[in-house]
Amino acid sequence: MQRILFVCLGNICRSPLAEGIARDRIARYDYAISVDSAGTGSWHVGERPCSRSIAIAEKFGIDISSLRARQVSREDRRRFDIVVAMDESNKKDLLSMGFEKVYKLGDFGDLQGADIPDPYYFDGDEGFEEIYRMIEGAVAELLERINDVEKA
Ligand code: 4NP
Repeated sequence: MQRILFVCLGNICRSPLAEGIARDRIARYDYAISVDSAGTGSWHVGERPCSRSIAIAEKFGIDISSLRARQVSREDRRRFDIVVAMDESNKKDLLSMGFEKVYKLGDFGDLQGADIPDPYYFDGDEGFEEIYRMIEGAVAELLERINDVEKA
């Protein structure tokens, strides 16, 4: 069983989408993979995902409303095989907490290393569909190729 942790800043917009999309695919394809998500910050601990993330996931048939935000901890370093940050700033924060190997979600799929942009201050809903599609493509590729990904 491979264990993946998705990390963003608040654990309410991007990483819950990654977790929800991954859970859906793991169930559908019967992958021996477990997933979780967390935020580097503590502002939203205990909260459900942001409403626009819940809505865009629902549009694609995925229910993320029962997820609750938590903050990443140093203990997570030994709890997961693969740690995947949403952007460069998340990655930097994880490395400074002592995580040794940190990927960005944009390392997978056809994103060419791009950041998944922080949508917290996005105006409309359009940006959420864009990040949903970015996250979905990269998560699909990560799960498919997990045996080729170097573990921490
Ligand atoms: P996330 O989005 O990192 O994708 O969950 C954010 C959520 C909250 C904040 C920033 C980004 N915030 O500053 O509270």
